[in-house]
Amino acid sequence: MSIKRMTRRELLKYGTLAGGALLLPLGFDRIGYAEESGLTVRPFTQQFRKPPVLSPVRSDATTDYYQININKASGQVIPGKTTQFYSYVAPGLQPSIVGPTIRQRLGRQSVVRFINNSLGAPTSVHLHGMASLPQYDGYAEDLTPPGYYKDYIYPNNRAATLWYHDHAIHHTAENVYRGLAGLYIVQDDLELNLPLPKGEYDVPILIQDKQFSANGALIFDDEGEDSQFGDIITVNGVAWPVMQVEKRKYRFRILNGSISRSYRLSLSNGAPFVMIGTDAGLKTSPTPVNNFRIGMAERYECVIDFSEFPVGTQIILQNLSNKNNEDYANTNKVMRFDVVAAKGVDNSSIPATLRTVTPIPASQAVRTREFRYERSNGLWVINGKTWDSNRIDANPQYGDVEIWRLYNNSGGWFHPIHVHLIDAQLLDRNGSAPFVYERGWKDVFYVGENESLRIIGKFGPNTGLYMSHCHNTVHEDHDMMNQFQVGQGTAENNPLSVPAKKLPAPTL
Ligand code: C2O
Ligand code: CU
Ligand code: CU
Repeated sequence: MSIKRMTRRELLKYGTLAGGALLLPLGFDRIGYAEESGLTVRPFTQQFRKPPVLSPVRSDATTDYYQININKASGQVIPGKTTQFYSYVAPGLQPSIVGPTIRQRLGRQSVVRFINNSLGAPTSVHLHGMASLPQYDGYAEDLTPPGYYKDYIYPNNRAATLWYHDHAIHHTAENVYRGLAGLYIVQDDLELNLPLPKGEYDVPILIQDKQFSANGALIFDDEGEDSQFGDIITVNGVAWPVMQVEKRKYRFRILNGSISRSYRLSLSNGAPFVMIGTDAGLKTSPTPVNNFRIGMAERYECVIDFSEFPVGTQIILQNLSNKNNEDYANTNKVMRFDVVAAKGVDNSSIPATLRTVTPIPASQAVRTREFRYERSNGLWVINGKTWDSNRIDANPQYGDVEIWRLYNNSGGWFHPIHVHLIDAQLLDRNGSAPFVYERGWKDVFYVGENESLRIIGKFGPNTGLYMSHCHNTVHEDHDMMNQFQVGQGTAENNPLSVPAKKLPAPTL
């Protein structure tokens, strides 16, 4: 892998030292990097925005029905440039490089019709973090070709910050990168009754890095099936935005929706993040930290209290970075908060107990399985093997508690490992306790360089076949993905049992 990566990174460093005038050897892969292509985007010149919340097409006593078209579209991502991207879009909404947010209540059901109109490539939609039935989980080979649609049924059985994204076999990275990702937030009464900041003060932050050519075209370059790193950081589809924040507390739901980049977030004035949630919902108790690491597909929720800073204060959400990321001049910045006067009294607070996350003791596990995440002969493999839909690598019985030991015996890369269906807990990393902010229910675990993690989870609430993979989606595509089956495979729980249907679709 990394001769090319190192070389490019080194060259950029020299270029920067030379005063910004880059002297690159001819024939070097220069396209796509703003610093090299001449495209300039100044950080903190664009307004922050939240993705729009999608309204249901209709609702009945138990269910809300939504419709999302999957299209090719174009619009402005970089000021003054037109960019073509892929879009999850609904009637009445502007196509965007980030999909609309679905907000749901625990216990209601969603039916989301995803229509592959004009994408020109097959899709599969995964709602990451939901315990969906296998046939609605976005199985990589359960494809919806152009001209087809599929109605996905979601039980909304977990109150958490989830996200929906493409999962098409071998094309997940490119499809997600080009725009097929959106937030999906489920709330329950317990959470809504807590005094945490709500409504306009409950803000999603979806972070993604991108690269563009000088004319504004999005460039997908996975460096020979290794990783896709961009030099422009976007938040909710806007490059380095500025958000006006009132002098009060805000709740942020932070999702790393990048392909290969992990971040270490901090605030430029040293203020703490009060960590309140992990991938799968609220933690037991809030914990302040000065910085935290977030791998691809991980979600962390925090409260930031801006009441202590004078109006006019500018606070940069910074990225201190982690090992094995490709850093560029401005990838150390994410967005900026500009403190403005509060519109009213802040009645919100952070309770000492959020909800009870009961640790699962290791002694409850009925077995331990081991998975090694490696690079072998130019492929990304798990226990030496690539994806094979005919092979099942684990068969826990329904309700079994298992420990999975996740190994990364390389210093050259990190792997955020995602297990579909279950929520799990991190027991330890290289024998040490998890970071305070990781202590909660999670579905992605950052397996860093030369690390060995033990995670523990209970297999349910569904039976059938589910995937597990690295969430560097370039690794996932080539081919660091396998599958497990909970209980027996039946005709009803087969992930291919509800295939996409041909358009036109009947009324939803
Ligand atoms: Cu977020 Cu299988 O993915
Ligand atoms: Cu998932
Ligand atoms: Cu990986």
